[in-house]
Amino acid sequence: MSTRVPLLAGNWKMYGTAPEAAALVGDLLALIGDVPDRDILIAPPFTALTSIAERIAGSRLLLAAQNLHWETQGAFTGEISASMLVAAGCTHVIVGHSERRQLFGDTDATVARKTRAALQGRLTPIVCVGETLAEREAGTTMDVVRRQLTIALADLSPDSVAATIIAYEPVWAIGTGRVATPEQAQEVHSEIRALISALAGPAVAAGVRILYGGSVKPDNVDALLRQPDLDGALVGGASLKATDFARIVRFTS
Ligand code: PGA
Repeated sequence: MSTRVPLLAGNWKMYGTAPEAAALVGDLLALIGDVPDRDILIAPPFTALTSIAERIAGSRLLLAAQNLHWETQGAFTGEISASMLVAAGCTHVIVGHSERRQLFGDTDATVARKTRAALQGRLTPIVCVGETLAEREAGTTMDVVRRQLTIALADLSPDSVAATIIAYEPVWAIGTGRVATPEQAQEVHSEIRALISALAGPAVAAGVRILYGGSVKPDNVDALLRQPDLDGALVGGASLKATDFARIVRFTS
C-alpha cells in the first residue's frame, strides 16, 4: 500500500484577474475546504498570488506559481524569482510546463536551472515532462521523458529528488479533451518511478509523487487515479470551474 498522499493541483494558466481568482477560490474553499486525506493545490496567475495567499491562510489549500526564473535577483525584466514567490505565499512552483517549453523557449537546460532554483529557494518544484503526439507515434515516448527527467534531476541529491514532484503530461492530451488511457499513463508513470529509483534509490522513488496531467475531468479522474503509480493530477481547464475541480479533488479510487 502506497503511503503517498494524493495531490490534486489546479493550473489556472493565464485565466483570471485577481478579483476573478478571489471569487473562484471562495467557491473552492466552500466546496473542498474540508477534504481530509489529500493535498489540494492551486496555481493562479502571478498577479493573484498575494491576495489568494491571504484568502487561503489557515485552509488546506496550497499555493503554487506557474513559473520562476533561476536567478535570485537582477536585471531580468519581466521575471520573478523563488524568493519573491515565497514572499508572496507560495510553497510550490510548476516548472517546465509544455506550454513554457513550446511557446516560451524553456529547454531541458533551463528547466534544470529552474528546478534547482526552486529547491534552493525552499519551493517544491512540480517538474513537467511529456511527449508530443509525433514523438508518441514514433515510439519515442520513454526516450523523451527519460531525457527530460534525467536533465532536470541531474546532480540533485536524493533528498532534493525526494522534495520534488513530477508531472507526466503528454502534450497531445493537454487542452485537447484527448486523455491518455489509464494504462497508457500507468506505463509511463511506472517507468518514471523506475528511473527515479536508478537516479536516487528505491526509497526515494517509492515516496515521490508522480501526477498525471492532460484533459483530466470529473468523468475520467477516478479510473486514472486507480492506477498504482498515479499519485494525483495536474488539472488545467477543469480546474477553472469550482464544481468540476471539487469533483476531481473528491475522486474515489
Ligand atoms: P488540461 O491542462 O487539463 O486543460 O488538459 C493540463 C495542464 O496543462 O496542466
